[in-house]
Amino acid sequence: MKYSIVASLLLQSTLVLGELLPVHFVAPTPGHFKEIVRNDTYDLGCRPVAHPTDDGRFTLHALLTEEQITDITNDYKLVPEFSIHRLAKRAVAATAPIGSGDRFKAGTVAPVGLGTQPSGTTISSIMNVGEISSAVQALVATYGVTSFNLPYKTFNGATQFAAYVGAGTDKSKYHLYMSAGVHARERGGPDQLIYWISDLLSAKKSGGGLKYGSKSYTNAQVNSVLNAGIVFFPLVNPDGVTYDQSSGSLWRKNRNTKSGSSGASVGVDINRNFDFLWNFKKYFDPSEAPASTSPSSEVFAGTAAASESETKNHVSIYDSFPKIRWFMDIHSAAGDILYSWGDDDDQSTTSTMNFLNSAYDGKRGPVGDSVYKEYIPSTDATNIKNVAAKTVAAMKAVGGRSYVTMQAVGLYPTSGASDDYSFSRYWAKSGVNKVYGYTMEFGYSTNFYPTLTEFNQNILDTNAGFMDWALAAISVGLE
Ligand SMILES: *[C@@H]1O[C@H](CO)[C@@H](O)[C@H](O)[C@H]1NC(C)=O
Ligand SMILES: [Zn+2]
Repeated sequence: MKYSIVASLLLQSTLVLGELLPVHFVAPTPGHFKEIVRNDTYDLGCRPVAHPTDDGRFTLHALLTEEQITDITNDYKLVPEFSIHRLAKRAVAATAPIGSGDRFKAGTVAPVGLGTQPSGTTISSIMNVGEISSAVQALVATYGVTSFNLPYKTFNGATQFAAYVGAGTDKSKYHLYMSAGVHARERGGPDQLIYWISDLLSAKKSGGGLKYGSKSYTNAQVNSVLNAGIVFFPLVNPDGVTYDQSSGSLWRKNRNTKSGSSGASVGVDINRNFDFLWNFKKYFDPSEAPASTSPSSEVFAGTAAASESETKNHVSIYDSFPKIRWFMDIHSAAGDILYSWGDDDDQSTTSTMNFLNSAYDGKRGPVGDSVYKEYIPSTDATNIKNVAAKTVAAMKAVGGRSYVTMQAVGLYPTSGASDDYSFSRYWAKSGVNKVYGYTMEFGYSTNFYPTLTEFNQNILDTNAGFMDWALAAISVGLE
């Protein structure tokens, strides 16, 4: 008896940790998903995004345990128009392998991207954590990229680094900032960023251009992107990625154990920890759940705004490079480019209705109402949408996949996200630059571990997307 209880508890904890099954819901309106989105025990991927279907309905993806699938199936039995569908579970063996050694030989062999190699060339594995740093060191040694350590060590003691390239030693000449590897399981983000930087540098050196599938870029375009000055932070969450790569557990958060020391209670969602409407219980309508105060939630916001080292390090980059104008955070997997804002619908008519105005506390979040909408000056709205559209057009042209642009709020709000934080700084702090912030969600819904073929396609799609994002940003303006 005793033994069987222990055995069943063990079995349950394995299920909760290991057996996240991909599903999607279909319903006539996004409102049908409201209770699901509000339940912070469900894993809704990188961000809850309801996508319209061809027949006028909506779908929402999630990763659920068998038990949660049963619960939802029972709860929604009497809602005839609501359905839940299991997606084929991806075979572990089919996912792209993680590199086992150091292909960059302790920072002596530079990475070579796909844009400077014959079409059809492929990369055979995803970089392990050591390789990400070795790759950047090899860029330093080969091309004179400058890397630097960030001030705060991670919970597990890792020293974090970022790098800059293209505009010389004056840090006020750097206008583009890109980060990746925030959510541990979103495999391939750091690789895409590093291989793209490698392509730019290789093309500059050889005087050549770049080619990603059907998209070609000239040497003049390469030079113009580099001259804009690029700061890159390729691995925001090394503790989480180390854990995910060794466990294959679809781990998302960092590995901070202060609020919870076992299973799902470990870790803070770095992308809900930024100082933008962080204290969501105060700022949002009580019917919304833009983050969670529960440590076991995938969207646990932490114990204070910017409580996490990874968040502080991310923020320190804006202070070191005061003229950053454009920011992109690279995530997966939904197939979209998100632009500001993420806390509520945008509006450009009432400047006093904004995230700093306490008169609207407790009212933010619900989409489609007129009680609160977040202020964005109309010129900014035009600029950010134009650049998002160019980015998506390039990604679609390369891989033919159906990327879309959307306002980050989509149909449900978030708080404490990196893209909103970047854009909010201009209003929240005096004397700082205005930063247009984006989230790229490469790949397909909940497909966090791509196959090798998908991993390579993701590199091509995103690298063309990065090129057109940077070129469009340059044409809107860097100053
Ligand atoms: C969230 O979902 C779980 C499991 O499906 C359920 O037991 C719980 O009651 C839900 N919580 C809320 C607040 O609805
Ligand atoms: Zn993510």
